[in-house]
Amino acid sequence: MPARLVVLISGSGSNLQALIDACDAGILPAKVAAVVSNRTDAFGLERARLASIPAITLPYGRFEDLPNARRVYDAALAELVSGFQPDYVVLAGWMRLLSMAFLSRFPQRVINLHPAMPGAFPGTHAIERAFAANQRGEISETGVMVHFVPDEGVDDGPVLAVERVPILADDTPASLEARIHAVEHRLLPATLRMLLTNSKS
Ligand code: GRF
Repeated sequence: MPARLVVLISGSGSNLQALIDACDAGILPAKVAAVVSNRTDAFGLERARLASIPAITLPYGRFEDLPNARRVYDAALAELVSGFQPDYVVLAGWMRLLSMAFLSRFPQRVINLHPAMPGAFPGTHAIERAFAANQRGEISETGVMVHFVPDEGVDDGPVLAVERVPILADDTPASLEARIHAVEHRLLPATLRMLLTNSKS
């Protein structure tokens, strides 16, 4: 039986596409069981539909006036995701911080992709911030990491894989971003493959 992945997205979903393609090509012994987005306009939803994968939106706006909104939202998200019985929940461009109301439901099963090295540039705009740091002469490389999400730490948790990405003298923010995305599209499926292969042996 292929492993079941539920992929959480907020945007373009190019990393979701890399996972779908790796599953289809037999590189990843898995299937994407569902895609969930907090944004109704995320292009990744379209990618899921094209691949005949259930594509569900759960906008935070419906919850934000409730008492304890964040936790209530996260509990609802967990309920939705657990209905698809995931072996792993993959945060692939998911732009909301998850509380323990979600994370405690999937111990050792939530994986995040971050476009920087461990401990570097947590949060949004990591690529732009790395580029700016390079322009100030502070760093000459950045990278990509894939890690477990055990708790509410931002882009922090046990590291599963890293790949360094040098920042070239003639890089622009766009060229650096393109190289980082290319690494992400390779590293995320490869890391899941490693996890799934190891968990079978
Ligand atoms: C990726 O760079 C990911 O690391 C970051 O958000 C971006 C999502 O891109 N957290 P996409 O939606 O997969 O195209």
